[in-house]
Amino acid sequence: ITTQVAIMGAGPAGLMLSHLLAQQGIDSVVVEIRSRRQIEETVRAGILEHGTVNLLVDSGVSDRVLREGDRHDGIELRFNGESHRIDFKELVGESVWLYPQTDVFMDLAARREADGGDVRYSVTDTSVHELEGKPKVWFTDADGQEFEVEADFLVGTDGSRSHCRRQVPESARTQYFHEYPFAWFGILAEAPRSAEELIYANSEHGFALISQRSETVQRMYFQCDPTENAADWDDERIWAELRKRVNGNGFELKEGPVLEKMVLPFRSFVHTPMRHGNLFLAGDAAHTVPPTGAKGLNLAINDVRLLAEGLESFYSSGSTGLLDSYSDRALDRVWKAQHFSYWMTSMLHTVPGADDFSRARQLGELRSVVSSRHGQAYLAEAYTGWPGR
Ligand code: DHB
Repeated sequence: ITTQVAIMGAGPAGLMLSHLLAQQGIDSVVVEIRSRRQIEETVRAGILEHGTVNLLVDSGVSDRVLREGDRHDGIELRFNGESHRIDFKELVGESVWLYPQTDVFMDLAARREADGGDVRYSVTDTSVHELEGKPKVWFTDADGQEFEVEADFLVGTDGSRSHCRRQVPESARTQYFHEYPFAWFGILAEAPRSAEELIYANSEHGFALISQRSETVQRMYFQCDPTENAADWDDERIWAELRKRVNGNGFELKEGPVLEKMVLPFRSFVHTPMRHGNLFLAGDAAHTVPPTGAKGLNLAINDVRLLAEGLESFYSSGSTGLLDSYSDRALDRVWKAQHFSYWMTSMLHTVPGADDFSRARQLGELRSVVSSRHGQAYLAEAYTGWPGR
């Protein structure tokens, strides 16, 4: 198979790139080791920045987000048993949308299918070759047939355990890691909404996040030990932990059967540069943020938007300028999001064994945010997505 752009990974980043390229008349082939069903069933985060929503709608992927997603004009920060609303709309004139990542994937997969895009799910034996020349992707399709894709460029959108990233020689990259002394326990529960907006709670028992999925299904998280095993937690133990962290002063969680539970990985990671020869990395393949602040998907979508512009410019004018600056331009936002996710995490979580000073300082930090219009606006601008590129 010969194509212009080979894409490894059919998550939201890979499919969005393939879609944006198709709209510019650029041909791509997307190769994915998971089945479409498997990706659809993976529970991921649910907050889209306004820029992400605009790209989905304006590029013609789907406007389902506007019809079925929920616009959120603010969040609540809860500490010392009291809630403080951060009013995004009033502070920075923007909103976010609660619309699960799996729905973003379904919209993209449906659009690519309707447009005749070449997306190969459930492939095996993938390998990539000649990244510094004309890249090749080898794979075996679901029927057992072997293929070689030859492309001008290869894009690795193959997630945090990226195969593509690992092909970059050690001498040609720098990697940045940060580990945290906790993880998140995530649940889906059958219950009515406990609140209309998200609640990010700091408590002496640790962080909790109250999110939603629908009228009848809710999404919640709480800080836990990274070695925690989800199977050790029955419903009562989960609800007791959440109650301790958020109930009080007239607020009470609406409880119900836990439908799914999982311990989520929690770390910060950046691989630079996001290009090696004719290989470009985008999304989780190049960077991971902790989930506090919901930046992961939004960063991935921003990466591929920049990359699509660079590829369009190359194919229409032969200019490599935007491709050459892709890594720097993408990393500008990546590091802002790394900082924001780290900051939200450190402000809201309890560090095991932290001393009294650290705890009192943290409450001082929270008060300095909620008691100041500038503090609130700083959070609101970052949460809803920084303007520009
Ligand atoms: C959700 C996840 C997040 O990490 C976050 O910051 C907000 C919402 C969610 O899954 O709904």
